[in-house]
Amino acid sequence: MLEAITPPAPDKIIQLIQMFREDPREQKIDLGVGVYKNASGITPVMEAVKEAEMRLWNSQLTKTYTSLVGEVSYHDAMIKLILNDTVARDRIAAAHTPGGTGAVRMAFETIKMASPDSTFWISNPSWPNHKSILGFIGMNMREYSYFDSASRSTDFSGMMTDLQDAREGDAIVLHGCCHNPTGSDLSYSQWEELAEFLQARKIIPIIDFAYQGFGDGLEEDAKALRMIASKFPETLIAGSCSKNFGLYRDRVGILLVVNQDDKIKGNIQNVLASLNRLSISFPPDHGGSLVTIILNDDELSVLWKDELEATRKNLLDLRVKLAAELRDLTGSDRFGFLASHKGMFSLTGCTPEQVLTMQEKHGIYLVGDSRINVAGLNEEKIPYMAKAMVDAGM
Ligand SMILES: Cc1ncc(COP(=O)(O)O)c(C=O)c1O
Repeated sequence: MLEAITPPAPDKIIQLIQMFREDPREQKIDLGVGVYKNASGITPVMEAVKEAEMRLWNSQLTKTYTSLVGEVSYHDAMIKLILNDTVARDRIAAAHTPGGTGAVRMAFETIKMASPDSTFWISNPSWPNHKSILGFIGMNMREYSYFDSASRSTDFSGMMTDLQDAREGDAIVLHGCCHNPTGSDLSYSQWEELAEFLQARKIIPIIDFAYQGFGDGLEEDAKALRMIASKFPETLIAGSCSKNFGLYRDRVGILLVVNQDDKIKGNIQNVLASLNRLSISFPPDHGGSLVTIILNDDELSVLWKDELEATRKNLLDLRVKLAAELRDLTGSDRFGFLASHKGMFSLTGCTPEQVLTMQEKHGIYLVGDSRINVAGLNEEKIPYMAKAMVDAGM
């Protein structure tokens, strides 16, 4: 019977990782995989996390199940981090999910339960999993323009034009900061204009917030999200601690649902519990406990914020240096976009042939859509990278 199932197409990024591993060239560079790497190419365990693990090891008396939605102390700490009191706590339902992906999935399922005929609007391009999950759970989706490949910046007017077709009760998936894969974010005034439009149309925002602290800083990155959550009667937020705490494999995510009032919040809290029950029963706890320990301890919070800020500055530094190197090489500022994009990713806008040349001729691995992860670079690699980009005709 099982032979009736057609396997899904292999994940392109996983294939790319494999090809990179098998490439014997010493100068090879992996700009594909979406994790942060330091100058030595390591995705480190943060010091604050190590310290929290010691404390947890010393103090934890049981590993019995948490509640179906995880620990309330984790919810409270994450709500403070993400929303910082911009919304009354009694309007927020929360669930610990396995990573930000679990939160995205749960957000989509929640909308599906409320309104199975709603259309989800997603950016073109977006994190590919948005489309895959929506397709898998059988929801309608439409894309809105997001990126202008000529200027390598946000196509805000194209976005607003496409959204004219959105109807009351539709949902829109927005990247809270550090848009994946483009690296191009809306300006705050564009966020405000968008919010006004969505509010007038009664379109429900789902904010995927996987990179808080990687763009302009922890507070700055949350500014647009907080504005939306404080204005709208309902907002869904999918948070992740994979990147900003480096807890990728511990699967630490959270879904926050801001509700119209505390009564609806009570119902939705039960819905989130049942959604976890139906798929995973109880969420993983270890990583969430670490985050709670860090966020509730002044000394560890300072240590974590310093480490995160160093990560952010390293990404920015690499961006600025690569853009400068390319300016020197080409005598033009056509790569200036690299310095203004936010977070780990930039969509370079190069052709599939150029992506292939980078890979085959120079051993530099980009995702097929031309996305680079700047964290795959370090200072020594920048001149080689810049020369290869020019050689490939980018
Ligand atoms: C836009 C976006 N959303 C969500 C996630 C979810 O990450 P995780 O499930 O590892 O927390 C990612 C990770 O790559 C992402 O890029």
